[in-house]
Amino acid sequence: MAVERHALAPGYEISRLLRGGWQLAGGHGPVDRARAVEDMSKFVEQGVTTFDCADIYTGAEEMIGEFRQRFERERGRDALKALKVHTKFVPDWDKLGSVERGYVEGIIDRSLSRLKTERLDLVQFHWWNYAAPGAAETALILRDLQKTGKIDRIGATNFDTPNTKALIEAGVPLTSMQIQYSLLDPRAENGMVQLAREKGFGILCYGTLAGGFLTDAWLNQPEPAEGTLTNRSLIKYKLIIDDFGGWALFQELLAVLDAVARRHGVNIAAVAGRWMLDRPQVAGIIVGARYADHLAADLEIFDVRLDAADRTAIEQVLARRQGPRGDTFELERDRNGRHGRIMKYNLNAA
Ligand SMILES: NC(=O)c1ccc[n+]([C@@H]2O[C@H](COP(=O)([O-])OP(=O)(O)OC[C@H]3O[C@@H](n4cnc5c(N)ncnc54)[C@H](OP(=O)(O)O)[C@@H]3O)[C@@H](O)[C@H]2O)c1
Repeated sequence: MAVERHALAPGYEISRLLRGGWQLAGGHGPVDRARAVEDMSKFVEQGVTTFDCADIYTGAEEMIGEFRQRFERERGRDALKALKVHTKFVPDWDKLGSVERGYVEGIIDRSLSRLKTERLDLVQFHWWNYAAPGAAETALILRDLQKTGKIDRIGATNFDTPNTKALIEAGVPLTSMQIQYSLLDPRAENGMVQLAREKGFGILCYGTLAGGFLTDAWLNQPEPAEGTLTNRSLIKYKLIIDDFGGWALFQELLAVLDAVARRHGVNIAAVAGRWMLDRPQVAGIIVGARYADHLAADLEIFDVRLDAADRTAIEQVLARRQGPRGDTFELERDRNGRHGRIMKYNLNAA
């Protein structure tokens, strides 16, 4: 089946499966740059025409820029127009409170240059610390840059519900909100989904496969011992599994997903992805990849339709979910907490 598409805004269409770029930044195993760039065309050929990256994903914008150039050379400018590249603007923690236009424009210009484009398709704004003033003012600088033509659409990432509302009320024209939202992490349902419905922005989910945990690869596997995970996403999502209710409950979920997947002739990742695409206000899911190795398995998302029996079986496990609780990114905002301690806060300066 074809990759579904979604109009995130009038005249702005994305593939509902987006290819994530964090896994290209190091920290997820070695990356063969030439192979990674080469493999990007396989995603586009299959209909995955929307890519996600960030100013702070080391090397990812450059690789996508190289791919854009090659793609244009081979396919022409019109074909390139179908490709949407979503990046982020993540001011450093240490800079919050003193962000000026020159700082914002410098980072946006760098993204333009790395991505080899004259206009960024979507810039997703992040603000580490609500105690530092200037979030809305900074986002309004992005709006100014939108007016000058450097940015097409403005989104945000990892905001909670009240601060998203505040951004919108300050006049930031928000097209999308990128947050962790998955079978393991329902925090978006504590306010963000409702706000998205009221204000008309789309939700772009990460964490759909929990960094690879919600796939066939981890079915019936023992709990990884502390300190043995080296991949940054697996470290991140193992904390979410702990909050969800622990390894035994997670394995119960995988077993149910596996049974559903087998019934439909697909794999666990396909069911986990389909579940999220069926949630209200979800515009798309961002699945991370270094290469195209898992592409065929991930495309099975579009081969499966979940029926009432599938939903009941999955919901019976989710009913015993313990957490994570609170608003979106609330746990992660505690810099000294379990989730906050593993993050890097000043990558733009680096
Ligand atoms: N805004 C934020 O704070 C934020 C945070 C995290 C992520 N993101 C975005 O979301 C994207 C996705 O990241 P994520 O954290 O949500 O990770 P994810 O998509 O849940 O998991 C990606 C990992 O799963 C593996 N994988 C994919 N399909 C698989 C399959 N069918 N079977 C086995 N393994 C499979 C990939 O392996 P390979 O490495 O071998 O390809 C990759 O390591 C990122 O690239 C980034 O663009 C944003």
